[in-house]
Amino acid sequence: MAFQKFDLTGKTALITGAAGLLGMEHAAALLESGAKVVLTDIGEASLNAACSQLAQHFDAARILTRVMDVSQPAAIQAVAETLWQTGVRIDILVNNAAIDPKVKGEQGVLETSRLENFPLEQWNLQVAVGLTGAFLCSQVFGTAMAKDGKGGVILNIASDLSVFSPDQRLYRKEGLPDNLQPVKPVTYSVIKAGLVGLTRYLATYWAEKGVRCNALSPGGVFNGQGEAFVQRLSSLIPLGRMADKDEYRAAVQFLCSDASSYMNGQNIVMDGGRSTW
Ligand SMILES: NC(=O)c1ccc[n+]([C@@H]2O[C@H](COP(=O)([O-])OP(=O)(O)OC[C@H]3O[C@@H](n4cnc5c(N)ncnc54)[C@H](O)[C@@H]3O)[C@@H](O)[C@H]2O)c1
Repeated sequence: MAFQKFDLTGKTALITGAAGLLGMEHAAALLESGAKVVLTDIGEASLNAACSQLAQHFDAARILTRVMDVSQPAAIQAVAETLWQTGVRIDILVNNAAIDPKVKGEQGVLETSRLENFPLEQWNLQVAVGLTGAFLCSQVFGTAMAKDGKGGVILNIASDLSVFSPDQRLYRKEGLPDNLQPVKPVTYSVIKAGLVGLTRYLATYWAEKGVRCNALSPGGVFNGQGEAFVQRLSSLIPLGRMADKDEYRAAVQFLCSDASSYMNGQNIVMDGGRSTW
């Protein structure tokens, strides 16, 4: 059968930051392939909303929710324990959670996205969620995957900015002096490049135990951004447009299933060709 290796029936996937824009899409992708999903995020209300939305299309019995802050080791451990106690084995971990501060820029206000002014507490918070969180979740769930001999898959959601630097001209606001121009913050580049390093490390660390690890690096998803920004970004992309939010589903299905059984340690860049220009 052509798509047999994509079948995830009987597998359970835990997704971090699952109530967000792409987290929901990853969940839908895995549900489409037959998996059970554990949606995790920081807020109960947003998790419930995500669950209700997904339950309109998929069997609600295959959707669990858990509040879990990925920056808190005790919270991750507690969620793992409650899942294990009820016989839920996590076969697939999708490290997706991140804090993505929107680049705005206000005239006359100290522009804190800029490197010169970037607050240390923001650095610590964003790294704690986007990078340390992926390490902590991999530590708990990856260790368990390796331990019982059944293996598993870890998918780290990076970004096209894991392979090139942000083009700060995209975020320029007319009429602002250079020192007040908003930028994509340094944390984003550091976290996403770090996730690729984590991916390579994990890919080799538990390979003999059947745990594979890859990264998916999406390009920008259209989500109602301003027209000028969308035009500027689209002009940097050979396909001439931003991604639709559901265009990563097939890649998630591939990377989380046996369809990619010989792929390990890779960073799959899906950016409409931007990084090839
Ligand atoms: N949207 C894009 O254009 C795009 C492009 C490339 C990469 N990405 C990456 O995809 C992933 C998802 O992005 P998105 O656009 O869905 O963002 P989003 O902001 O919609 O979702 C991120 C989710 O992470 C959750 N989160 C924040 N702090 C958390 C914590 N401490 N513990 C657990 N969860 C926490 C948020 O509540 C939110 O639901 C991110 O890693 C992002 O960097 C997104």
